[in-house]
Amino acid sequence: MKKTFFLFCLIAGSTQAAPFPNGSAENGKKLFAKYECSSCHEGKMGGDGSAIFTRPNHTVKNTGDLITQMERCSGATGKQLTAQEKLDLAAHLNQTYYHFK
Ligand code: HEC
Repeated sequence: MKKTFFLFCLIAGSTQAAPFPNGSAENGKKLFAKYECSSCHEGKMGGDGSAIFTRPNHTVKNTGDLITQMERCSGATGKQLTAQEKLDLAAHLNQTYYHFK
């Protein structure tokens, strides 16, 4: 509960400018490789799997969805992302694909 609130504050407090000012997109890119985030996406979408983020009916519509979906994905593999890892991954995916303001 405490952790969720902390995360909520980080996200809610940062909606004006870049949505994840406390996340490192550079580190997020490394985490994405380290956690093999593309492994399932590749199987589903083909290619390097990145089309999952840009497919016309993609499910992530805002920064909250992004965090939720990453939790679902990592949960499916039994991995628990830390709050900082989520921010870093979110910063990377937002900078590269989603471009939420
Ligand atoms: C166990 C397989 C699996 C792994 C590993 C996985 N994903 Fe996913 N991911 C999926 C599936 C399946 C979907 C599509 C869900 C849907 O269609 O609603 C998805 C969708 C997503 C989306 C939403 C794309 C959209 O529609 O906008 C994001 C963001 C995402 N994954 C991030 C990650 C990240 C970050 C990691 C690594 C920490 C990761 N995923 C690892 C299976 C996985």
